[in-house]
Amino acid sequence: MESTLSSSAYLGAAIFFILSLGGLSHPETARRGNLYGVIGMTIAVVATLLGPMLTRAGMPWIIGAMLVGGSIGIYAARVIRMTQMPELVALMHSLVGLAAVLVGFANYLDPVIGARYTGAEHTLHGIETCLGVLIGAVTFSGSIMAFLKLSGRISGRPVILPARHALNLAALVAVIVLGIVFSGADSIGAGTLALLLITAIALAFGVHMVMAIGGADMPVVVSMLNSYSGWAAAATGFMLYNDLLIVTGALVGSSGAILSYIMCRAMNRRFLAVIAGGFGTDGGTPTAIEGERPSGEVVAVTAAETAELLRAAKSVIIVPGYGMAVAQAQHRVSEITDFLRKQGVQVRFAIHPVAGRMPGHMNVLLAEARVPYDIVFEMDEINDEFPDTDLAMVIGANDIVNPAAEEDPASPLAGMPVLQVWKARTSIVMKRSMASGYAGVDNPLLFRENNRMLFGDARKTLDEVYAALRA
Ligand code: TAP
Repeated sequence: MESTLSSSAYLGAAIFFILSLGGLSHPETARRGNLYGVIGMTIAVVATLLGPMLTRAGMPWIIGAMLVGGSIGIYAARVIRMTQMPELVALMHSLVGLAAVLVGFANYLDPVIGARYTGAEHTLHGIETCLGVLIGAVTFSGSIMAFLKLSGRISGRPVILPARHALNLAALVAVIVLGIVFSGADSIGAGTLALLLITAIALAFGVHMVMAIGGADMPVVVSMLNSYSGWAAAATGFMLYNDLLIVTGALVGSSGAILSYIMCRAMNRRFLAVIAGGFGTDGGTPTAIEGERPSGEVVAVTAAETAELLRAAKSVIIVPGYGMAVAQAQHRVSEITDFLRKQGVQVRFAIHPVAGRMPGHMNVLLAEARVPYDIVFEMDEINDEFPDTDLAMVIGANDIVNPAAEEDPASPLAGMPVLQVWKARTSIVMKRSMASGYAGVDNPLLFRENNRMLFGDARKTLDEVYAALRA
């Protein structure tokens, strides 16, 4: 009876999770999607607490862990800035991976659970444990590396070991052999040793995989690790006989994989090359900033001149990037948009799939500043509109508007689709200096004849532009 009740509750929670994912796919329904997620998770936690799996003796541990975890979560939600989200997400993925590894070992070493399986069931359980520990360990070490790279604690440059493909292949063969040894082991000692070796190889593989990835390719890694963390959770679900964990893990795993695929397409990378690790480099040579540096005259304008250009334009496309997020300039952007629209100027926003530091980063900021959804366009929808546009205003973006991606095959960004702002009659790039963006690549756009630079912190310069517009 208890178990039927908890199964029904799990089913309800799974439905809420699916509704949540559906809601999160569009900014207009995202708030509702979040709410569905919260309801689903509450049902899941309560059903697990009251369900048959939890003993009375285990209750204080669980409550204690929830209090500690919940407090850390509330603290992190309050202090983490939006721009730090990707590194926080990477850190959270590492915890899912670690949990899968620990559950795998606990499950294997628990004599009560061990005695439950014989024959084919024993082998099957062994495979589940191996896979859980393997995926968990790769997710754990890969996510820690991603966290260190994204937070700038270690260099973001790709580090490539010689013969890395051979090393990866050798690791795969070793893991398969150890997996067979583990499944057939007749003593706990031999099995534990095999499992420990699998864990060590998987940890090294995770580090190796993410170390080899550099610069602008990191967003794909984050979403790929998101997918891995889902599969790690699903594997934990198999080990614990928890249907909801299996369903939720599979949902996260597959949606992360779909997102990785979409991002790969947006950045013109091959999905399989990403899975194998070591992408963002060509033939084993680390990405280098080679070739001639762009040169030419840089024309700086003042906020008053920018306001003049805006006033004279009939059509404006705004391209927000990471700098807008750092400066928290979205509210001012929204006010300027409002003002210009009231003056009869057509204002639209162009969103690059990897603008900012996480998927949907710009959409979230613009939604928060109440920019109407119907003037916000994805790259594919708006890229052809630049030639008919009077003014393209780039706010704190760099890599996503770099013409070298299209024009210079030697550029590390070569092949990544970019927003073609240079095709507008005039473009204005707002940033603080001539420094490069995330990928560390020079941007020839800044030297184009029809480009103007408005130097300064985006928030401050937009304040001045707004004041000049209203004057
Ligand atoms: P970036 O190429 O990083 O350029 C942002 C620019 O903003 C910088 O060049 C910086 O120039 C400027 N900036 C910084 N603070 C500013 C401020 N307070 N006011 C005005 N400008 C400021 O950003 P992007 O064009 O949005 O491209 C995103 C990059 O991040 C891509 O390479 C992408 O692959 C990578 N990435 C994306 C994600 C996701 S999923 N979106 C995740 C990780 C990495 P100054 O220093 O001169 O001001």
